[in-house]
Amino acid sequence: MSDIIIRTEKLSRSFGENHVLRDVSISIPEKAVYAVIGQSGTGKSVLIKTIIGMLRPDSGRIWFKDRELSCLSSREMAPVRRFFGYSFQNAALFDSMNVGENLAFPLVEVLGMKNQGEIRKKVAELLDWIELPGIESKWPDELSGGMRKRVGVARALILNPEVLFFDEPTTGLDPVLAETINNLVVRVNKELSITCVMITHDIPAAFRIADKIAFLDQGYIIAQGSMTDLAVSDHPMVRDFIRISFNELKT
Ligand SMILES: Nc1ncnc2c1ncn2[C@@H]1O[C@H](COP(=O)(O)OP(=O)(O)OP(=O)(O)O)[C@@H](O)[C@H]1O
Ligand SMILES: [Mg+2]
Repeated sequence: MSDIIIRTEKLSRSFGENHVLRDVSISIPEKAVYAVIGQSGTGKSVLIKTIIGMLRPDSGRIWFKDRELSCLSSREMAPVRRFFGYSFQNAALFDSMNVGENLAFPLVEVLGMKNQGEIRKKVAELLDWIELPGIESKWPDELSGGMRKRVGVARALILNPEVLFFDEPTTGLDPVLAETINNLVVRVNKELSITCVMITHDIPAAFRIADKIAFLDQGYIIAQGSMTDLAVSDHPMVRDFIRISFNELKT
């Protein structure tokens, strides 16, 4: 697990006067679960969107394996993005399409698949894998919050990515459902050997499932390492965040 699959060096991004990312340098080990934690509005989603090329950095560099992405044009970046799956913060399914069509969409639009039998097979296999078999004809608004999240993960998986990014996969779910989604992240990582990068507010879950954690505060990485490294961090913000998270668990 020691190879680094994604690395950023001094990544910065502002929106006008709002300096969201400041000199962010992170390294994500291949086949790891990597968690990004930090307060709301601190730049976690912007960091991930910048890595996958949805946003451009103002300065700094990004590598995927030995390929530098920060110097690629949008056209050059398009084939590289195929290696990345992205499960959006709000699951972002197309409401005008049923589940089967939602999952088939990347196969048709990105891969240009035309064989309906093959498409149906691939969609059915993935729905089986996320333990929601046979729900192809359901509409997104017929699904529970947890089901939507799982279908969102399935859609992010459908092009067989090497890295899957989860933006707050458990937010808004009750603790039991949140646990099933955390377990799904672990399954994606272990059974499919996919590197998982997860933004989460759930610090206890991050400690349980992540191999490495980055702590973002006001655009700066203030700590990065294994849970043991973070648990013994003497940074006051890190200590507070961890203490509050674990105390909340007890109440
Ligand atoms: N496209 C955009 N245009 C302008 N400002 C943006 C844009 N995207 C994000 N921001 C700003 O960047 C800052 C960080 O936003 P971001 O969504 O990364 O926070 P976050 O850490 O993911 O928060 P949360 O935990 O609430 O999801 C916020 O001040 C936000 O308003
Ligand atoms: Mg966010």
